[in-house]
Amino acid sequence: MLSTKVEELLNAQVEKEGYSSLLYLSMASWAETKGFPGISQWLYAQADEEKNHMLEFVHYINDRGGKALISGLKKPQDNYQGIKQLFNDVMSHEQFISASINDIVGLCIEERDYTTQNWLQAFVAEQIEEEASVQAILDRLNLIGDNNMYMFDRDILSMRSASTDSAE
Ligand SMILES: [Fe+2]
Ligand SMILES: [Fe+2]
Repeated sequence: MLSTKVEELLNAQVEKEGYSSLLYLSMASWAETKGFPGISQWLYAQADEEKNHMLEFVHYINDRGGKALISGLKKPQDNYQGIKQLFNDVMSHEQFISASINDIVGLCIEERDYTTQNWLQAFVAEQIEEEASVQAILDRLNLIGDNNMYMFDRDILSMRSASTDSAE
C-alpha cells in the first residue's frame, strides 16, 4: 500500500512523463516541418518512450493499491529557434525529470517505502542514460557547428540505436 505522500508524488510523475511525451511530440512536429526527418524521427521515438514511462507509473500506482490520475496537460512550446536550442531544451527537461525522480526516491526513503524505492531504480538508471545520450548529441552539435545539419540529421538515428532503453 502506498502512503498518501508517495502516491501524490508518483501521480505528479505521471503528469511529468505525460508532459515529456507531449513536449517531444511538439518538437518532433516542428522538426518535421523544418525538413529534418532524422531529428523528427528521433523525437517521435522519444515521445513514445515517455508515454510508456507515464504508463509504467500509472500501472505501478494502481497495482500498489493507489489510484493513478490523469490530469490536463499544459500545451508545450511549438516553435524553436534552431536545432541546438531544441536539444538544449531537451537536456534541461531531462535534468528536471532526473531531479524529480530523485525527489521521489528521497521521499520513499523517508517514508520507508523500500518497494517503491526499488521499483524506481530503473528510472534512476534510465535518467543517467537519457542525459548521457542527449549530452552526446550536444557534443556532436558543438563539433559540427551550425552549418552541417544535413549530415547531423542523417546521423542522429544511428546515435539513438547505440543506446538501450533500460526502463522499457
Ligand atoms: Fe521519462
Ligand atoms: Fe526522458
